[in-house]
Amino acid sequence: MNPINIRDMQTLARKRLPRLLYDYLDGGAFDEITLAANTADFARLRFVPPVLNDVGSIDLGTTIFGERLSMPLILGPVGSLGVLSRLGDIASAKAAEACGITSCLSTTAVASVEDVTAARKNPIWFQLYVLTEPGHHVELIRRAKAAKCRALVITVDCAIPAQKERDLRHGYTFTGKVRPRNILDMLTRLHWMRSVLLGPRLNFGSMPGGKGNFKRIMSKAGGGLMDKGLDWDKVKQIRAMWDGPLVIKGIMSPRDAARAVDLGADGIVVSNHGGRQLDGAISTIMALGPVVDAVNDRAVVMMDGGIRRGHDVVKALAMGAKACLIGRGYAYGLAANGQAGVEQSLDILRKEMTSTMGMLACTSVAQLGRELLHDNEWRF
Ligand SMILES: Cc1cc2nc3c(=O)[nH]c(=O)nc-3n(C[C@H](O)[C@H](O)[C@H](O)COP(=O)(O)O)c2cc1C
Repeated sequence: MNPINIRDMQTLARKRLPRLLYDYLDGGAFDEITLAANTADFARLRFVPPVLNDVGSIDLGTTIFGERLSMPLILGPVGSLGVLSRLGDIASAKAAEACGITSCLSTTAVASVEDVTAARKNPIWFQLYVLTEPGHHVELIRRAKAAKCRALVITVDCAIPAQKERDLRHGYTFTGKVRPRNILDMLTRLHWMRSVLLGPRLNFGSMPGGKGNFKRIMSKAGGGLMDKGLDWDKVKQIRAMWDGPLVIKGIMSPRDAARAVDLGADGIVVSNHGGRQLDGAISTIMALGPVVDAVNDRAVVMMDGGIRRGHDVVKALAMGAKACLIGRGYAYGLAANGQAGVEQSLDILRKEMTSTMGMLACTSVAQLGRELLHDNEWRF
């Protein structure tokens, strides 16, 4: 199949990945209500299109933290990309660079921050989880600094692990207790086996324990991995350790957004972790407007969650986001076809954004505003 949209990429990913890995990528927390709301609420929000402007040339470019991006998209941090495709973290970061955008490497990436940085000319962003392991985050900040990462993104919505029921049904697969039916299923996924099983040994490059830490870390993933004591004071300490742009990811309330900016954050990602944490949380597109208003241009507001179409990005920008991060939208591409698949996902989104902007009579992202949006039930 020649994929023409992100849903096609998802279908290809489903065919190529062992079922347990597809469910790891695709699934959400508990009843997946928030996961579904992230996409459904984009569909509820509609455009009110103006007409009659010359749209012969449309520029999607934007500048974030001094870096020019060819479009208002960033590859968000997605852990363990290396289990979806060989050297998946590096392949994704390279695809982002080839498409003129930046990418954010997860703390739970397979590749190390040094290896990903070495594979690109332009710096990446680094996403920080604060773990229970004492001093680990201080060491990671040191490594991110040494690797010249442009921005540090602290994820603050993961202190408590969520119940991901698809993963549970596969039997805590990452703890090494993969069920026989999962092993049989893996053996039928030849593309994935060639890509991952015949590739280098899997390891978490930025996690404690050095080489061979994969099983040990995954066995803690259900419980004692994240620092449950992470609070505003700790974020303040991290602010003092990092000279560059600091982004807080996982903010949903306007009050927290204002507090994050008061504390010195340069950016905020409105995020509910792609529906993988608090099930029943509102969608991110619904949370976005009030956060934009509370921040009032004092920091860069970005958002993620549920973006499967270029017009979703345009809606988020019209609501006031400066850029969007994507997660599954590119990871499906990676699982389908490695670096080329990520580039394909990004090309699809770029084309959709361009045509949507044209149909809204806009030629630059600066022209997008809330007057282009409509929802009878919403007040913003
Ligand atoms: C498989 C998977 C792993 C993820 N791992 C991380 C992570 O390590 N760190 C993080 O901050 N967010 C992580 N996220 C959340 C994403 O950064 C992002 O918030 C989310 O995927 C956005 O929703 P979308 O997938 O609908 O685009 C992960 C998401 C997925 C799907």
